Amino acid sequence: MPSQDLILETKGLTKYFEALKAVDNINLRVRGGVHSIIGPNGAGKTTLFNLLTGFLMPTSGEIRYLGKEITRLPPYEISQLGMARSFQITSIFPDLTVYENVRIAVQSRLKACYNFFISFKKLRGVDAKTREVLGRVGLLDYAHSKARHLSYGLQRGLDIGISLATDPKLILLDEPTSGMDQKDSNQVIRMISEVSTKIPVVLIEHNIDIVLSISDVVTVLYQGGVLAHGTPSEIQKNDKVQEAYLGGY
Ligand SMILES: Nc1ncnc2c1ncn2[C@@H]1O[C@H](COP(=O)(O)OP(=O)(O)OP(=O)(O)O)[C@@H](O)[C@H]1O
Ligand SMILES: [Mg+2]
Repeated sequence: MPSQDLILETKGLTKYFEALKAVDNINLRVRGGVHSIIGPNGAGKTTLFNLLTGFLMPTSGEIRYLGKEITRLPPYEISQLGMARSFQITSIFPDLTVYENVRIAVQSRLKACYNFFISFKKLRGVDAKTREVLGRVGLLDYAHSKARHLSYGLQRGLDIGISLATDPKLILLDEPTSGMDQKDSNQVIRMISEVSTKIPVVLIEHNIDIVLSISDVVTVLYQGGVLAHGTPSEIQKNDKVQEAYLGGY
């Protein structure tokens, strides 16, 4: 069940590229669970993520995250506030094991607190955290495999695990199953579902069956604006969505 707390909110969020209105007056409210953003190619989904994470400045409008206005903060400050974004470009080291990949991410987060001489107790903390993250994405059984030997689905899971190592308060995923076969994408969707019970996820996803099965809330973008917003069953029944999006799929 998604928590009812408002985690992320945009008001009148708008982005122009020259004369093109790529994001048009979007009012978004993210409360928890899986909140999917769908829409045809060029609808403005990735641009919206770029605005939320500070990679692009909005032309107008406001973004609030955990009760704080973040509208013009740079990406590193937004990321320090616990908003994690997983890029399609993977952050995995292929020749290290699954365990080592996550451990590095856990340690890099702790580096600010520890200096060169890490005590035994603190190392145990790193180990516990690494195992917790691996458990959460279902990769404990693969801890000692080299990352390069994982299937694409599991590599994507490891990628998500690496972002979990920083204890994010919100995760943004842009087409995490893109280019995957059915089996791999099912694996990734199961992981996202599991992760979302603890950490809210905003998901951009093209596969409508996946969206309808995994989401608590769906926002449909069309030509930069919000065409519809609701539960998966509301979205499925919506005539405007049928016409503009689902029909043409
Ligand atoms: N940096 C940019 N400069 C100019 N135009 C851009 C830029 N980024 C995106 N656009 C344009 O803005 C519109 C929205 O693009 P965006 O990438 O957000 O769509 P999308 O919904 O993510 O599409 P897709 O499903 O193909 O990933 C498109 O018309 C695109 O060409
Ligand atoms: Mg996109």
